[in-house]
Amino acid sequence: MSILCHSDEIAEGKSKGFQIAETFLFAVKKHGKIYVYKNSCPHLGIQLEWQDHEFLDIDASMIQCSSHGALFKIEDGECVLGPCQGQSLIKIDFTLEQGMITVQQ
Ligand code: FES
Repeated sequence: MSILCHSDEIAEGKSKGFQIAETFLFAVKKHGKIYVYKNSCPHLGIQLEWQDHEFLDIDASMIQCSSHGALFKIEDGECVLGPCQGQSLIKIDFTLEQGMITVQQ
């Protein structure tokens, strides 16, 4: 079990990357809700961000892979545009206890 951070540490419409041992994850906050995914693009299995903690497109409406521009829905990780269209990011279950985002990793 690992604590990623307090949910207040992720601003609305922002994302944050994490490394737990050899596993890379990221979290997004949208409309006050947190979503956590494995940081691995279904296209080539590489990390998505274009720079540290930056996983979203220009208007923060979608998750964007920096390599070939695939766009994923924040809510369920489905790729709606790009080379892996129809595939999805791997969603990570987490608990929120006293605001702490905790994963079973
Ligand atoms: S590696 Fe993500 S779109 Fe190609």
